[in-house]
Parts: sequence; C-alpha cells; structure tokens
Amino acid sequence: MYTGKYECLEIFARPDGPDQGSIVLTDCEGRILKKKELEHEYGTWVRLPVEKDSIYQVKTEHAWAALAYLSGREDILEEGVCVLDPCNDFKELEGEAYRRFCDTPYREQYHFTPIVNWLNDPNGLCWYQGYYHLFYQYNPFGQEWNNMYWGHAASKDLVHWKHLPIVLEPQKEILNDQELKGGAFSGSALPQEDKVLFFLTRHIGPQEDGSDTVQYQTMMDSRDMVNFSPEKEIIREKPKGANFDFRDPKAGEFGDRCYLVLGSCMEGKGSILLYESEDKEHWHYRCPLITESQPIRTIECPDFFKLDGTYVAMGAWMDYYDQQGRFQPSRYYIGKWNGRRLHTENEQWVDFGSNCYAAQTFSHNGRRIFMGWVSDFYKEHVVTEPGTYGSMTIPRELHVRQGRIYALPVKEIYSLRREKLFSGEIRELKKEHIPGNQYYARITFENQGDFQIIMGKDGEKEIRLVAESGKVFLKTQGVKSSTIEFLSSVKECRSAEIFVDRRTVEVYLNDGEDVGTKLFYNSRSEGYFFLKSKELSQTELFTMDSVW
Ligand code: FRU
Repeated sequence: MYTGKYECLEIFARPDGPDQGSIVLTDCEGRILKKKELEHEYGTWVRLPVEKDSIYQVKTEHAWAALAYLSGREDILEEGVCVLDPCNDFKELEGEAYRRFCDTPYREQYHFTPIVNWLNDPNGLCWYQGYYHLFYQYNPFGQEWNNMYWGHAASKDLVHWKHLPIVLEPQKEILNDQELKGGAFSGSALPQEDKVLFFLTRHIGPQEDGSDTVQYQTMMDSRDMVNFSPEKEIIREKPKGANFDFRDPKAGEFGDRCYLVLGSCMEGKGSILLYESEDKEHWHYRCPLITESQPIRTIECPDFFKLDGTYVAMGAWMDYYDQQGRFQPSRYYIGKWNGRRLHTENEQWVDFGSNCYAAQTFSHNGRRIFMGWVSDFYKEHVVTEPGTYGSMTIPRELHVRQGRIYALPVKEIYSLRREKLFSGEIRELKKEHIPGNQYYARITFENQGDFQIIMGKDGEKEIRLVAESGKVFLKTQGVKSSTIEFLSSVKECRSAEIFVDRRTVEVYLNDGEDVGTKLFYNSRSEGYFFLKSKELSQTELFTMDSVW
C-alpha cells in the first residue's frame, strides 16, 4: 500500500474465528511497525497514523476486513479517501481501478452508492462552504441492515461524489454484545454561518424492538466537516402517549423560529411530532404536526419545510401496505400552518414506485433538494461480491404547483448525457444493446394515448412503464414484485423522463407531476429500450456516463 498524501489508515474489521484478531502494519521488509488488536466482537474501527509518501504492508491476523481506506489529507473534501482493496493486499483502488471495482452488472453508475455493502437513509443533507454533504445510514460489514454507522460523502455538483471517512459508529455496548442492536440512527444537519449542527437518534435495544428499546436524540457540530464534536444528549423524555419508536430528528428554521420534527407513534397512530427551540439545544415539545389514521407502525424520517409559499410535511410509513400491495410508501402533506398542527389541504405519495424511502430535503440557493433511499422492499436484492445494497435517488428539485409536489431531477444530472442513440418522432422504437445499461430517455406525446415502454429486459424478466385505459403505472414481470401494479396518480401522461442505471429505474412523468422509482435486477451488461405507442412521440435516447 502506497500512502501518497494520506496520513491515516482506517480499517473496519472483525475476528474471523474464536481468536481475538488483529491488524498488523509492517514495512516493506516485513518488520512490524504497529499491531492493533480488534476490541469488539461486532467490528472494530481501526485508525492508524501512517507517514505520507510511504509504502507499507497491511496484514490481517485471525481477522476479516470489510472496508479499508486512507484518510487524513488536508484537501480530503476535494479528493476524498483512497479506497483500499482488502481482498488484494490492501492495494489502492484509485481512478480507473475504482471505476472497474464499481463496474458490476447491478451496481448503479450515476446514483450514489457506498464503497461496499449496505446503505439506507440519507442523513444530514446540506450545503456548506462550497460542498454538498451527504451522510447516510451505513453497515460496512454486509449487504444487510445491521448496527448503524454514519457514512459521509461530499460533492460540488450533486452528481460526482467523493467518499469521505466514516463519521459515527454504534455505541460500544452494542459492539460488544450480539444480543443488542442499534447505533447512530437517522438525523439531519442545520448549517449555521461558521458551523453545521447535526441532530440524530441513538438507538440501543434488543434484537426485537419493544418496550426495552431506547431511542434518544443527540446533537453534535462541525466547523470543517472533517472533525466532529462529541455528541450530547438533547431529547430523551418522550411526550405522553409516544411509544418506543421516537426518532429521526429533522431540524429547520423559518425566519427566527427554530423547529425540529420527530417520527413516532402516539396512542397507536403514526405521527410527526413538533418541537421548538430558541437556542437549538433546548427543545420543547409542542404537539403532533401530523397524525395518521392509517394502520402504520410509525412514521419514520419526517421532514417539514416551507416551499413556494406553503408548508409541506413528509414522512415514511413503516410496515404499511397500500391497496395495490405497495409496501412502505412515503407520504407528503401540503397545507396551512399557524405554528402548531399542519392543516393538510392536499396529500399524496412521494414516489409511486415504492422503492424510495426515508427521503430528506434541504435548501440551497433557493432550491429545495430531495434525496431518497432506493430501498429493496420486495426482497429482490441479489448479493454479489464486492457489492453494494442500496443507493440514493438522483437528487430532485421540488416545487409546489396546483396543490401538489412536482419533483424533477436536478439540472446537473443532464451533464452526464453522453452519446445520442436516437432523436426523432416515432410510434415505435427498439434498442436492444445499449452499452453499459445506463441510459436516459425523454418521450413527449403530442396526443394522449396508450403506450408501453420496456425499460429493462433480462431473459423473461422485464420492467415496463404502461399507459392504459386512463392509468399510468410501472409493472415488472418474472421478479418478486410482479404481482403489484405501481400506480401513478397521473391519469394522462404527456411526457416521461426515464433514467435507467443498471438495477435502478426512475421515471418522471409530466415534468415532475409524479415520480416512480423501481429496482430491477438486470444481469445483462447491455440496456434495453422498447417503445410502442398509439400516438406519435418525440423521443430522445442517450447513454449516461458513470460518476466514478
Ligand atoms: C428508516 C429507519 C429510520 C432509522 C434508520 C435506522 O429506514 O428505520 O427510522 O433511523 O432507518 O437505520
């Protein structure tokens, strides 16, 4: 391993058997320079100082390393970490090597994914001193949910991301006791002039959630987004009637008012709880902002913001199936707000594909930007090594028009369009060999009419966007979600923008009137597009670049 400009080695490792396990750093001749015993059964975050411009050897003894990278360089926000390959003598995966490492059939190429393994909710989204920041729920040890860390990445354009060092790890008690689970759960960021405040949930409890589960809220801050203060507890006591689901603080400011919302279940009803503060440290519970009457376990990852002169709340519905059988959709509520409850005037699903969950928004330069977790709710995930589970949606710019949310991909994403494969007026178009299976299509219809668009085909498996008898929906075939019709609230489709990125498909209808995200695990390295429409359409098709 060559350190270049980096001065710290970070490894996430655990014993691979009954012995304790350790990480050993030697010089080129094999002389031991440092040896770090692995302290925790679940996993140890090893941090070792290294010299710049030096060559070392890294060895694992009775240990398995899940993730390794070099950090600790002055311009880390600009350059990111240097990923090391634990399966290949911790060799640096830089530039083209990292691109090849990510170039596997399922893994997204222009949606954000972690270096390896599991990701869920976006956390702490913000813009601060020239960079967009994305933190996220992360399990470095596998492609399934487990004890939670906070991953971190930064970008100047919301499209190209640099991986940054992990920021938070689970509590020590959890790392030492397999009966417990938890860690650093979801939270948000509130940028101030010279620092960013973070609010998050700490969870600790038995493997099965219940009355012994403890969730409390903490805060920390950072002036440079590289060093973070220790967390301090800010909210532990739950309002009367709230159950153990009590999490995911999202903070915001309206003028001189500072508020925070939490997801919970009050008296058996999924709720968004409203808190207020004068100093952003001492928080006072006011009332439920939203109380849901539908049978959901709890609302998770709430959000609350002002947009285009109106107020919007958003929340993810845990353990809920809608009439079509869609699992865990998210809801938005638009209405009037006088400082207490939100008086909802309109509400709708956030995403009709229901593979978009726990979304969060932030505001920068007049834009309200949204990112959601592309989540596998139908157990369609295929494990490949090295691989990732979960990605982030393309960042979306939100607006409120005619009482509903319009969501469009941020304009920066169009910079990734590469080769034009087609442009013209047609009723039928078939492209069977789109290189890389990462493409963009825009289809505009002159008149309303039924159509079918196949956006992915892998043997008998398919994913389609269909307009039929006044309904517009996503439909899969030959996969686990194929019994469900992913129905849009749009009745007439005038235009569709389609983003295919290996296993992730995003469809934006009528310039953002509705959006659907759906996973489709496609093992082919070539993309497939087939349009058949009753009416004439103006269609454009482009390949998309990779961002790595
Ligand atoms: C939503 C969620 C959050 C929680 C986090 C834990 O996906 O369950 O409510 O904070 O994930 O990873």
